[in-house]
Amino acid sequence: MKLPRAFYRPLAIGAPEPLREVPVRLERMIHFVPPHIEKVRAKVPELIHEVDVVLGNLEDAIPLDQKEAARKGFIAMAKASDFGSTGLWTRLNALNSPWVLDDFTEIVGEVGDKLDVVMVPKVEGVWDIHYCDQLLAQLEARYGVKKPIMIHAILETAEGVKNVDEIASASPRMHGMSLGPADLAASRAMKTTRVGGGHPDYQVLSDPDGDRPRQSAQQDLWHYTLARMVDACAANGLKAFYGPFGDFSDALACESQFRNAFLLGCAGAWTLHPSQIAIAKQVFSPDVAEVLFAKKILAAMPDGTGAVMIDGKMQDDATWKQAKVIVDLARHVASRDPALASAYGF
Ligand code: GLV
Ligand code: MG
Repeated sequence: MKLPRAFYRPLAIGAPEPLREVPVRLERMIHFVPPHIEKVRAKVPELIHEVDVVLGNLEDAIPLDQKEAARKGFIAMAKASDFGSTGLWTRLNALNSPWVLDDFTEIVGEVGDKLDVVMVPKVEGVWDIHYCDQLLAQLEARYGVKKPIMIHAILETAEGVKNVDEIASASPRMHGMSLGPADLAASRAMKTTRVGGGHPDYQVLSDPDGDRPRQSAQQDLWHYTLARMVDACAANGLKAFYGPFGDFSDALACESQFRNAFLLGCAGAWTLHPSQIAIAKQVFSPDVAEVLFAKKILAAMPDGTGAVMIDGKMQDDATWKQAKVIVDLARHVASRDPALASAYGF
C-alpha cells in the first residue's frame, strides 16, 4: 500500500502538485458533444454560455471510422474557444481500446492546459486509475501542464461497482464518478434495452386481498448503485453524477431520474440532447422555496448549534448542516445565474 506521505506527491518529476480538494465548480450538466461533426463544433462558442461543462466525446456513439476525427475535432474545439468558468472535459476511449494512448498523448500535448477533466469509461478497479494517474503525470511533465488534469470514472461494470470505494480513494486526481446505466445493465445481464431510467416491469406487488385489485408500484432500478456511488464519492470528497438518459422524447421521466439523483446527493447529470440542458439546470439548481427555508434555518441558528422551531418543524445542528449544503449550492448557482440570484434573495 502506498504510504500516506507519498499520496500527494507528483507521480512524475516536473508534474504539477496534486490537488488536495476537488475544485469548487458548478457542474449541473456535463453536456456531450460529438467533436467529429463540424456543424456541432461550430456551436460550441454559444454552448459555453449555456452549460456548466462541455465534454467532447471520443468513446461510445463515435463510429469506428471517426475515432481519429473526433480526437482532432476535440483538440480543434478546445483551441478555438476561451471556456472561462465553463468546464472542458473529454470522454476518452476505453483503456483496452487501440485509440486511448493517442487520446491521452495528443490531447494533453495539444490542449493539456485547457483540459479540466478526463472521463474514463468502464473503470473496473484501482489499477485503471493508477494507470491513468501515472500516464497523466508523465504527460503533464513532458508538456509543462500547469494544473493537474483530474480523472472522472464512469461506474458502468459490475466489477467497478464492487470496487467503487477503492476507486474513489485511488488518487488525489479523482474528481468524481458518473453512473453509466447502459453499459452497467449489459455487464450485469439486466434484461433491458434502455439508456437509464426505469422499467415498467420492475415492480412490487401488494399481497392478495380478497377480490380487491392488487396494487403495484414501479421501483427504481438504479437506487442501489446510485446510493453506493454517492457514499463512496462523499466519503472521499468527490462529486457524484447521474449519467445519460436516452429517451429524449420523455422529458418528464428524465426530470424524475435527474431529481432522484439530485435529492440523493448527486451534483449533476449528463445531457446528451439540447432539450436536456434546461431540465438539468432546473433540477440541479436548488428549489427556491427550499433555499428560502434553509436561509431561515441558518439565520435562526447563527452558530449552527441548539434547537429552534421554524414553521412547526424542529431544527438542530444536523438540519443546520443540511441547510448549509443547500444555501452554499444556491450561492454558487446564483454566481452564474442572475435570475436565480434574485429569486434566492442574494
Ligand atoms: C454510459 O456510458 C453508459 O454506458 O450508460
Ligand atoms: Mg458506457
